[in-house]
Amino acid sequence: MSDRRFQTILITGGAGFIGSHVVRHFVKKYPSCQIVNLDKLTYSGNLESLKDLEAEDNYHFVKGCITDEPFIKKVFEDHRPELVLHLAAESHVDRSILDPLEFVRTNVLGTVNLLNVARDAWENKSTGLFYLISTDEVFGSLGPSGFFNEDTPYDPRSPYSASKASADHFARAYHHTYQLPILISNCSNNYGPYQFPEKLIPLMINNVLDAKALPVYGDGKNVRDWLYVQDHVEAIDLLAHRGEIAHTYNIGGWNECTNIDLVEMLCDLMDEKLEKARGTSRSLISFVKDRPGHDRRYAIDSSKIHHAFGWKPTKDLQEGLSLTIDWYLSNRSWLKQVTSGAYQKYYSEMYKAQEL
Ligand code: NAD
Ligand code: DAU
Repeated sequence: MSDRRFQTILITGGAGFIGSHVVRHFVKKYPSCQIVNLDKLTYSGNLESLKDLEAEDNYHFVKGCITDEPFIKKVFEDHRPELVLHLAAESHVDRSILDPLEFVRTNVLGTVNLLNVARDAWENKSTGLFYLISTDEVFGSLGPSGFFNEDTPYDPRSPYSASKASADHFARAYHHTYQLPILISNCSNNYGPYQFPEKLIPLMINNVLDAKALPVYGDGKNVRDWLYVQDHVEAIDLLAHRGEIAHTYNIGGWNECTNIDLVEMLCDLMDEKLEKARGTSRSLISFVKDRPGHDRRYAIDSSKIHHAFGWKPTKDLQEGLSLTIDWYLSNRSWLKQVTSGAYQKYYSEMYKAQEL
């Protein structure tokens, strides 16, 4: 099959962590393609993350909410995208435990609204692809062995993963019922530059810089599979151009690690880079009350995308973590900006609940 080509791509959630990397990648790599970034700019969306793209002719930003039907219709009329890369979402598990309905609004209703508009806009056209960026959390939790693959039954266990699973089901239903061309990828934990410091790695980096306690949930033995964000972006590019319609692809880093091992690795790297005595940052580690319903282990078998297209992750955790810490150390103004205002309120409410 020859690669699909696009003149205009609509990226939702492009001001967020992964979205900003996706937008930058497509703007730079495909200069003759128009890239439209649609984002509501919630607490986790930040145009500071895309400042370097403002002067690019093929980059366009539109502010708005994916649940707003007239707005989404207008964006489709104005820009006529042939590809939607749908990343906009409420993405943090802890926040989904505090406010599940917001996750239903954005992740379920917002996705269905986009699917409706795309279906109507692409009716009777041979072009059009709706690519939903999803998560490995839809598969539930693993025991000490085994991997999620594309045939693993869905078993979401947090309000966040239930809302993402629902969005995946709707996308498949729109293919089955209306023949909407869709594609889904389910990815493991991303990390790298521009990640909001509510997620484990940037939160720990930020707290080390502020000499604040490092809250590790439960016994710290929960396992996640870590993928450097640019590796995810390369996989998204590949699948957008060559992935099989109506297929699902798992994307993982082959980088499993317990949370405590990861936090200790991060502490040692930070001591080294900040020229502090070894052990200084580790002394900030504090075991706190566990996350309710905390999934024990995620691990991804990404052999389908590897065998189909040769994709594989390029960074192991040690290298990716070192690059990530370097970025945060050189971009403290970004960190300061995104942690001002509402962040402090969230942090004290969230971590008071964790008895920190
Ligand atoms: P993020 O929270 O950093 O960014 C989400 C973006 O969506 C923000 O820019 C926000 O302003 C925007 N947004 C939120 N609600 C919106 C709405 N109603 N209308 C328009 N825009 C809205 O999230 P992320 O970590 O970059 O994740 C991006 C996507 O990738 C999500 O769909 C997430 O489920 C998925 N994913 C994330 C990971 C991960 O490890 N971070 C792993 C697998 C899949
Ligand atoms: O697996 C993919 C998912 O990874 C994505 O779909 C989500 O959008 C993304 O947020 C991420 O979910 P997690 O819940 O795994 O990520 P988080 O960074 O919140 O937590 C990682 C692990 O670290 C998890 O086991 C909980 C633990 N943790 C997290 C925080 C914020 C702590 O021990 N302490 C903390 O303060």
